[in-house]
Amino acid sequence: RTGYITMDPAYMNTGATVSSVTFLDGEQGILRYRGIPIEQLAEQSSFTETAYLLIYGRLPTRQELVAFRLQVSRHSMIHEGLKELIDRFPPGAHPMAILSSAVCAMSAYYPELAKMDQTPEEVELSIVRLIAKITTIAAYAYKQSIGHPLLYPDNSLGYCANFLRMMFGVPCEPYVVDDDLVKALKVLMILHADHEQNCSTSTVRLVGSSRANLFAAVSAGILALWGPLHGGANQEVLEMLEEIQRDGGDVAKFVLKAKDPKDPFRLMGFGHRVYKNYDPRATIIKRTADTVLTKLGKQDEPLLKIAKELEEAARSDSYFVDRKLYPNVDFYSGIIYHAMGIPTTMFTVMFAIGRLPGWIAQWKEMLEQKAKIGRPRQIYVGPTKTDYVPIEARG
Ligand code: SDX
Repeated sequence: RTGYITMDPAYMNTGATVSSVTFLDGEQGILRYRGIPIEQLAEQSSFTETAYLLIYGRLPTRQELVAFRLQVSRHSMIHEGLKELIDRFPPGAHPMAILSSAVCAMSAYYPELAKMDQTPEEVELSIVRLIAKITTIAAYAYKQSIGHPLLYPDNSLGYCANFLRMMFGVPCEPYVVDDDLVKALKVLMILHADHEQNCSTSTVRLVGSSRANLFAAVSAGILALWGPLHGGANQEVLEMLEEIQRDGGDVAKFVLKAKDPKDPFRLMGFGHRVYKNYDPRATIIKRTADTVLTKLGKQDEPLLKIAKELEEAARSDSYFVDRKLYPNVDFYSGIIYHAMGIPTTMFTVMFAIGRLPGWIAQWKEMLEQKAKIGRPRQIYVGPTKTDYVPIEARG
């Protein structure tokens, strides 16, 4: 037995993915990475340590963690050509388009890592380079959008602090690391790190199953995550809360709209395909939002107040209760990013940075399982055999 499911052949033949990376129980609201509850990791671990746990299947020794961190920091700079590629995007380009393009372009800058049947050392290098460079690419996509120069990584800083410095630092003055913001970012990154076979992770596994390289598979995963029903929801939530604020804060009106089958509007950040209970990540993020905003002196942030009122209104409404619709990981995360000064267009990029270790772990597991190429089947409901009708006879 592993977890809750007996791995009998019948189950194995359902075509479901067999994985040992993440355990999720949607009814109980349980989420564990390699068996460790996310509550403990969010409290006690670091993002690089959690990334190591997901990718290599166990917590690192102190020496292994030091070596991993050194590896990641050593590869944090990007090729100058990649910098120029990012520069060539038009002003206002969505950073998810830039991120996916730049990650895919890594297969051009490291062709030795783009071939099939890589050596274990080459696989390792792909993994480290991707984790190291995604924050530099992301920060540069933001800097490019505001016309600021790229700040090169500072290898004396930790992963999250380095990212915040590249995002908000400027060449003309020293950047002061805010430990509270670094801690909040670490918690958010850990909580986003994996989530078993969600849309973007399934995309990474499917693309990787054709033995396309890791950069191509993750580039595809980034694009799947961009969708507003998936990772793009965190940006939609903030825009929804701002609309409610502009509309005078009438949350009841928006709950009514979300219930109207004729109205395409949905409460963004609410509901989940698997969780039919409170998303355990949302519980921690909501608590972190209170802590971070208080530390920043923004405890009266109107958007947090609106979010809490919206949650209360929806959760006392039978439409949401009957459908077991609760806040998900995206409902409160944007409020923290907003308080940190991160623009809404970068919210899904933040999700991608957090999710990268999970994508890599699942891709690596798929290779180790020697998985066949993915080939989903269909139920055909189209026309029976029909003869061709020449154009003259078609009227
Ligand atoms: C993520 O899979 C993962 O693990 C994803 C993720 C991860 O970590 O990778 O957890 C990250 O993607 C979180 C979800 C972010 N998306 C949103 O917050 C967008 C808003 N949510 C919905 O679009 C929806 O809840 C989904 C897409 C998340 C889940 O949709 P499902 O499981 O396909 O549910 P459904 O669309 O079949 O809805 C069931 C019913 C429907 O009503 P009826 O047809 O029964 O009358 O619930 C309603 C839906 O209309 N419903 C909502 C709603 N979500 C579902 N109604 C109003 N507001 C909502 N948010």
